[in-house]
Amino acid sequence: MSAKIEVVNHDAIMQEAKSYTNGLKYHINTMGCKLNENDSEKIAGMLEEMGYVLADKVDDANIVVFNTCCIRENAEEKLYGKLGELKNIKAKNNMIICVGGCMGQEDHVVEKLKKSYHHVDIVFGTHNTHMLPEMVLERLKVKKRVFDVWNIDGDIYEGLPIKRTSPKNALVTIMYGCNNFCAYCIVPYTRGRERSRRYEDILNEIKELAKDGCKEIMLLGQNVNSYDGGNGYKFANLLRDIDKIEGIDIVRFMSPHPKDFTDDVIDAIAECKSVCKVIHLPLQSGSTNVLKAMNRRYTKEQYLTLVDKIRAKVPEVSFTTDIIVGFPGETEEDFEDTLDVVSKVNFEQVFMFIYSVRKGTVAEKMENHIPEEVKSARFDRLKALADSMTMEDIKKYVGTVQKILVEGESRTNPDVLTGRTRSNRIVNFVADKSLIGKEVNINITAEKGWYLTGEVVE
Ligand code: 5AD
Ligand code: SF4
Repeated sequence: MSAKIEVVNHDAIMQEAKSYTNGLKYHINTMGCKLNENDSEKIAGMLEEMGYVLADKVDDANIVVFNTCCIRENAEEKLYGKLGELKNIKAKNNMIICVGGCMGQEDHVVEKLKKSYHHVDIVFGTHNTHMLPEMVLERLKVKKRVFDVWNIDGDIYEGLPIKRTSPKNALVTIMYGCNNFCAYCIVPYTRGRERSRRYEDILNEIKELAKDGCKEIMLLGQNVNSYDGGNGYKFANLLRDIDKIEGIDIVRFMSPHPKDFTDDVIDAIAECKSVCKVIHLPLQSGSTNVLKAMNRRYTKEQYLTLVDKIRAKVPEVSFTTDIIVGFPGETEEDFEDTLDVVSKVNFEQVFMFIYSVRKGTVAEKMENHIPEEVKSARFDRLKALADSMTMEDIKKYVGTVQKILVEGESRTNPDVLTGRTRSNRIVNFVADKSLIGKEVNINITAEKGWYLTGEVVE
């Protein structure tokens, strides 16, 4: 679908806001996926242009934005818990509390916030994030709550300011929304229909990043391989054009859909030096029956054939995946099919989720829901298998030399630096901090279960 593209200009609002925000601080709480992280970078960019500065901690903030996710049930409870915690400190800082993102598109959440969370000042959805400066300014001027959720599919908004959390490895959204309507998934309802950014805008953004010293980018979309830049320009073209951009050494993407994994995308992955040979290929279930009920539009055999086909063209490839256990109607036999695919593919990493009901989805109305104890027993079995395979797989790195972009200090120990292999495995090592942001060769000396350690090769 071709979306209307609007270049946002907030200059007048930003100027006016500055007379209210002098010395005021912001805090953003981001839930969910990388797309939300990228949206939060834009929210931070807008708040800074309004004159807010980053608060060290939430207690010091004068404006708090919750960028929410509703892909699974527990996120909602988490939001209400966090909102509860702010109730007492709101008055102290004259705090403006905003809730946006995916939950902002859910009627029952908006109703609950309206009725039971009177200390929430602003509620917005995924289609009008770019309007946050207007909403905040209104709240600053008149002490009135602002609830503004758009129920239309969003257009594409270019030109928003952005404050990147890691400019050396940057997130770049290439498309918004999803048309797939997997039976369990809320995303098509909260993010609207698929719409792709213009490829010129994407390439310009990446060229600018490269100029500023960015080495690695992650291309984001709910279904990146249905990217459609118009006139036959598809995801494979985008990968090839990004590969030509000087300075960008590492290109990752998530998530592709197995049903759209065309030969030209496989060829582009094989041919483009910068494109990582690790592919996140969401399986969801290994059972053809469950896949049909999920509306995934591939079978167990088609998934396995695709993996073989990619392996034939990209011999060094490895795979990561998402799996849902306990989808309505999943039998013991269906679940064993999932275990079977996991054993056959030998995933580098498996992200596992227990099925949770989402209001308004097709699966909500299915009759054969699985008891909680069966779901969690299956989850444990899948986890045991996936963990044992990961632990075995990680051993292959010991004794090899891996090219790594040094991302920074390790979160737990500032004396240790950290980065990731092309296949996304964390590598920790002791070296001079001047190497941060540079690519180095690391001799992998040991594996620690889920991460690696090593030494810089001089
Ligand atoms: N319950 C459990 N997991 C889900 N996911 C999406 N919707 C649900 C749900 N209702 C998982 C899928 C998806 C990942 C981002 O979250 O595995 O790929
Ligand atoms: Fe959800 Fe399926 Fe779309 Fe992914 S492809 S966002 S799982 S509906």
